[in-house]
Amino acid sequence: MYTPEMRELIKKVEATRAQRIAQGDFPRMTADEKTDVLKENHPDYIEEGFVEIKIGPNKGDKVPTELGLLLHGKSRLENIDIDLNKIDYETDVLIIGGGGAGAAAALEAHKVGAKVLIATKLRFGDANTMMAEGGIQAADKPDDSPAKHYLDVMGGGHYSNVPELAAALVKDAPLAIKWLDNLGVMFDKEKDGTMVTTHGGGTSRKRMHAAADYSGAEIMRVLRDEVQNQEIEVLEFSPAVELVLDEERKVAGAVLYNIETEEYHVVKAKTVILATGGAGRLHYQGFPTSNHYGATADGLVLGYRAGAKLAFADTIQYHPTGVAFPAQIFGALVTEKVRSLGATPLNIDGEQFVYHLETRDVEASAIIRECNKKNKGIEAPNGVKGVWLDTPLIEILNGPGTIEKRVPAMLRMYQKFGIDMRKEPILIYPTLHYQNGGLLIDENGATEIKNLYVAGEAAGGIHGKNRLMGNSLLDIIVFGRRAGKAAGSISKDVEITNLTLNHVEKYHKMLKKENIQLSSISPMLLPNYTHRGK
Ligand code: FUM
Repeated sequence: MYTPEMRELIKKVEATRAQRIAQGDFPRMTADEKTDVLKENHPDYIEEGFVEIKIGPNKGDKVPTELGLLLHGKSRLENIDIDLNKIDYETDVLIIGGGGAGAAAALEAHKVGAKVLIATKLRFGDANTMMAEGGIQAADKPDDSPAKHYLDVMGGGHYSNVPELAAALVKDAPLAIKWLDNLGVMFDKEKDGTMVTTHGGGTSRKRMHAAADYSGAEIMRVLRDEVQNQEIEVLEFSPAVELVLDEERKVAGAVLYNIETEEYHVVKAKTVILATGGAGRLHYQGFPTSNHYGATADGLVLGYRAGAKLAFADTIQYHPTGVAFPAQIFGALVTEKVRSLGATPLNIDGEQFVYHLETRDVEASAIIRECNKKNKGIEAPNGVKGVWLDTPLIEILNGPGTIEKRVPAMLRMYQKFGIDMRKEPILIYPTLHYQNGGLLIDENGATEIKNLYVAGEAAGGIHGKNRLMGNSLLDIIVFGRRAGKAAGSISKDVEITNLTLNHVEKYHKMLKKENIQLSSISPMLLPNYTHRGK
């Protein structure tokens, strides 16, 4: 429920609405304006938010401070005796992570005849996939093509993306939609069966396919069902705490920690796919996050300690529209679909200050500038500043009932707090949403460590320095499937020699040599909110 002061300010939004509609779209920024707004406002440009990595394959590169602490941290196994001759599980393909990428990988590996085991930190499906709202991109309409999609992906990433990865993403996109549709995902469709598609920020065509504003939950529902239908084994509450290599430095499994029984389990595997997801719960630079509880960058730590390279790990996505008010849902995602449907960001005077569908990094930077440097934000009772998102415009531009039909979860989320977004604007501020980078992969998800694959948000290179909306649900399917197929196929020819954790010991020696005396233990596994801010 808005305070009387906020209601007064909302009158300014209402007062400018008719004129804004008459003026049409706010002008887009020029390339130079984009560069300036990013450099001056985006958190990626705040030097104090980053540290240099002191050891390992990316020595000398910058990463967010909180991630640096974990990469410079000690193994959870430092003082634990693990008997690597006592194998608890043996499999062809071990998949670490039970979100969309892990599930898609499992299905493909199973399809090529491999024995598959999924180990996941929480319950199967507790992942950022489940929380994805707006949709999944694919160029499958007559006025579109993978080539056009490719140009958007590269432009969104400031042309820093690994071209082969971006090409693989867009090429497989129509197949990914078909695959999901055939599995039973209930995409929004017209009466004649054609998919409903909308724009996202930075897209030149309407290619966002969605299931209302719970697209990720719908995709995860179907993938999880299918994994269960195929009787693929899943170990829940069993995060990996270290990868295991063999004497030839090939990946050969992992040590899992059962967080219910507090026991360690050794998995011997011919191939391993890391699908551990994002890092939002590290709360870079103090930002709130839209991520699920388990998003603590575990895969980056495990892979890096085993010798895999990071790429673009210094580029983070702050989603322009996180909830600024009410405080109870601070940082929760307000899907970009709300802007796709026409809602525009406004300052305290009810003025629009940025085109509503700039790429996310640019849009977020403009909002940060409006609140901080320009001091034109609206202060909520929780002390947080934000800008309005003029959601009633959606109903005016698209007709009454659009919000209920296209973004019902958003409507319900706000209604719980006495705010009707059909009639009143909502207050938003950027929220930590996505790690653009991760462990460097090739087109099949392979890393430079033999038999180690990565898929989903833990992978780096596909999106370069900035991902576009809807390309994350896409990449978990495209690269999940590719990694699953590749790992499953090669597993038939893999011979594992003796298992070792020597790389962990070596890592500790490197930490010591560099005189790194940090007390963090990694991977983090679960965020600790007890001491935040103290
Ligand atoms: O805004 C959103 O619905 C988020 C989509 C995405 O990150 O791809």
